[in-house]
Amino acid sequence: MLSLVPSGQDLYTAVSILRAGGIVAIPTETVYGLAAHAFDASAIVKIFDAKERPRFDPLIVHLPFAPPEDALHHVVVLDEFAPRARNAVRQLTDKYWPGPLTLVLPRHDSVPDLVTSDRPTVAVRMPAHPATQTLLAAFGAPVVAPSANRFGSISPTTADHVRQELEGRIDAVVDAGPTPLGVESTVLAVDADGTARLLRPGALPVEAIEAAIGPVGRSTVAEGAPEAPGQLGRHYAPGTPLQLVDSLHDAVGRAAGRMALLRVLGPVDAEAWRAAGHEVVEAMSLSAGGDLGEAAQRLFATLRELDHCDVDIILAERCPTSEGLGYAISDRLERASRPVEGR
Ligand code: TXA
Ligand code: MG
Repeated sequence: MLSLVPSGQDLYTAVSILRAGGIVAIPTETVYGLAAHAFDASAIVKIFDAKERPRFDPLIVHLPFAPPEDALHHVVVLDEFAPRARNAVRQLTDKYWPGPLTLVLPRHDSVPDLVTSDRPTVAVRMPAHPATQTLLAAFGAPVVAPSANRFGSISPTTADHVRQELEGRIDAVVDAGPTPLGVESTVLAVDADGTARLLRPGALPVEAIEAAIGPVGRSTVAEGAPEAPGQLGRHYAPGTPLQLVDSLHDAVGRAAGRMALLRVLGPVDAEAWRAAGHEVVEAMSLSAGGDLGEAAQRLFATLRELDHCDVDIILAERCPTSEGLGYAISDRLERASRPVEGR
């Protein structure tokens, strides 16, 4: 795959590949996405093939920067929406677009069935990363962009991760360095009566959404029906088994084999484990200083690194809070810990 930078001649190369129906990995503020023209079904097929993604899992349409109502034109139809529902959409887009908030809304006929997996709704977001917006402005149309990883695996937060996942399968990657937020966008469905439901916790805390539109229904990891197929059990998963414990300190002695330790907030005390005779190959903290933003930013890169340590098990301490970004971090760790069927 070509490696491009998000400026000058490279930008035009990326745009010409997209115009010609190719697929290009692009940075966003959350994770790297694999982009194709949102209205070109034959280009979109290539995304599903490269990712080995099942066709029943719909894609997010990424909109170029514009006033939200203009950007949504020809993508969603809000005709059936009660004033309360329109108002909720307006509040959210005014406040949080561009940014890591994906809204699931009734689709416009022009959106290919492949994008929505034949659903009556389409997921839309307006990314905030300057490189993404420069690219979308030059391209002049929306793109669809799932995370640029093979289906079920860890989302990429650097161009190198994209190469590890998709080398030989895609046309190019636009490298803008590590993504600043590190977890995917928050996915929220808004219904015609104004009811809002959280489908995936993400980089925009649900508390911020509730501050704008009031209470939001949540389907937690445990009980969530796979309304957004990304809610399917194991996802964001390393190849190495990952076990979650409430406290690494209290768990000393409760695991065997070559291990890696992972803590979300605060330092890791590997010595306590080694003193108890354990073979601790690696011990990492997502934020030794206890900052949730830093922890989210480093989560996927760290899981990838630990996965390459050749250990029997990754022992990870649960995120001590589900507030703010703690919700998305907890969700991704829970999913990463689910056993693969048949293993
Ligand atoms: O931050 C992000 O959202 C990244 C970057 C690249 O923008 N993209 C991303 O896309 O995470 P993906 O395809 O990995 O996840 C999209 C999620 C999936 O869980 C999918 O099931 C859900 O959005 N989704 C998409 N369209 C939907 C729809 N019409 N109804 C319900 N869920 C939908
Ligand atoms: Mg994904």
